[in-house]
Amino acid sequence: MTVLNVTINGKTMEVAEGTTILQAANAAGIEIPTLCHHPALKDIGACRMCLVQIENMAALQPACSYPVIDGIKVETHTPRTLEMRKFVLEMLFSERNHYCMFCEMSGDCELQKQAYAHGLAHWTYPTPNPKLQVDASRTYFIMDHNRCILCRRCIRACGDVVGNHTLGMMSRGAKTMVTADMDEPFGDSTCVSCGTCLQVCPTGALVDRRSAYGGRNKDVDTVNSACTFCSIGCRVNVITRNGRPLRVEGDWDGHNQGVLCLAGRFQPLETGRRRVTTPMVKRDGALEPATWDEALAAVAKGVQAAVPGKIHAWVTAATLDQPMDAVVETFRGKFGGDVKTLEAAPPPGETPNGGAMKDIDTADLVLVVDADPLTEHRVLGYRIKRAADNGARILVCADGDNSMADFAHEAFPLSKLDWALASVTTAERPVVVYRAAMDPRLRAKLAVIKAVCIPLHAAANAARAISLGLNNEADGDAEALYILLEEQALTPEQREQAHKAPFVVMHACYVDDVDGLADVVLPAPLWYEREGTFHNIEGKSERVRPAAPPPEDIWSETSVLQQLSLRV
Ligand code: SF4
Ligand code: SF4
Ligand code: SF4
Ligand code: FES
Repeated sequence: MTVLNVTINGKTMEVAEGTTILQAANAAGIEIPTLCHHPALKDIGACRMCLVQIENMAALQPACSYPVIDGIKVETHTPRTLEMRKFVLEMLFSERNHYCMFCEMSGDCELQKQAYAHGLAHWTYPTPNPKLQVDASRTYFIMDHNRCILCRRCIRACGDVVGNHTLGMMSRGAKTMVTADMDEPFGDSTCVSCGTCLQVCPTGALVDRRSAYGGRNKDVDTVNSACTFCSIGCRVNVITRNGRPLRVEGDWDGHNQGVLCLAGRFQPLETGRRRVTTPMVKRDGALEPATWDEALAAVAKGVQAAVPGKIHAWVTAATLDQPMDAVVETFRGKFGGDVKTLEAAPPPGETPNGGAMKDIDTADLVLVVDADPLTEHRVLGYRIKRAADNGARILVCADGDNSMADFAHEAFPLSKLDWALASVTTAERPVVVYRAAMDPRLRAKLAVIKAVCIPLHAAANAARAISLGLNNEADGDAEALYILLEEQALTPEQREQAHKAPFVVMHACYVDDVDGLADVVLPAPLWYEREGTFHNIEGKSERVRPAAPPPEDIWSETSVLQQLSLRV
């Protein structure tokens, strides 16, 4: 590694070749103001807020995109740099409509913060007050062009980080606008509503509908946790105020590199479903609210009436380790029944694995087999698209409609897997992504090729379910059936099969799942109220932390199962 000397504000330090002046300054604790810079994005030097004075150079230079040269001497806060930064701010404020008192970002806005820091108490230049469009065509967030400073963070996030390339720039000069595709309304565009652009926007131009005006950063609580809505297990920050979840943000330090999909960022907060808030027991054919004591007594009675060995449990493989273990201990260990998962599990046979998300970044070939990551494991799908941008060859081998096939260099039906595998053998750093529950004979073919393999499971914690020997094979003859459903829903076939059991207990979050089926309903905490661990796509144990306490009458699933075990 080549080491370079740099002197910033009289302080000399050594940095690695390729380090920018901004990075060197930050490492030395010297703050240079920025607007278009974001640590997760490539710098483009668009805003000129970070201008610095370099010895023997006439023009000021942008620190974010200027690499350190050996022996360079930099001053960051000269009267000239301060004057230029103030001028940049004055121009930005005069260009569009920044009325902070009406803006949802007021208090958290990076532009406003710099305005205060540079003594802007009023508009220096007349503002033309252009009436710019507010595009509210997307379900979860809004684009207000009046607040946009054209920093292009959103465009770089969409293109370089997510690999989606929906956003771009249209027109020139004062008429420049952020645009989607060929100037489509954002809601009609190829936008996948992952919300990465929203997360990087420094102003009130991109607005989250749900959390807008819900509280400034100083008013809210942030809890680091993990998304359990698919087996990628993205790291998230859950933002709450007074126990109410406002929004979910991606954790830049997670294996997902800050990226989420709409199923993890937006949809869990907007279910519109009626929650089970109290235990319920069926009386005279209808479910009625009950105390925990009554509900647990009813479960114990129903279980004790069943023939031993015919007390079975179904568990969603999206649940955390602790409730899954408790179900297995109670129903298999104590009652001698079967425990199965609601989601498809890999049939017996080798499940080649060992790959990590970062392997996709360096792959020269990615083969997707019998899976559609852009539909079911979206953040991994985005990562594959990004790999394609970086030169990786993408092959898809799957039957039926497949969103990933639209971005593939070649697509094959599953019957041509051998052809696809022949291409893998010619690659230097191949990665194979496949549906874990696919035909074990095809899986066996993957096990013998020289490639990093990533199995895609049907639910977040399927890895734990497999290690406990659980699968989703039919058990048929339950006389008492306990279902740990949480936020999931039964398929029509599963509902029909559950109906055959004379006694059904449902441990669930939502009323519409339990109606007409359960004899006893036990309320389950929601995803942001749970605490525990699960195993993500990389096989790593991920910690889930509660961002808000559950309502008073909702206990943790493990407490309920312990109580149940004590009563039977
Ligand atoms: S985007 Fe920032 S500077 Fe512009 S109005 Fe909103 S708070 Fe003020
Ligand atoms: S929408 Fe936000 S992130 Fe995008 S260019 Fe405008 S200010 Fe920057
Ligand atoms: S890819 Fe999966 S884990 Fe990540 S945010 Fe989407 S649903 Fe959650
Ligand atoms: S932060 Fe350097 S030019 Fe914008």
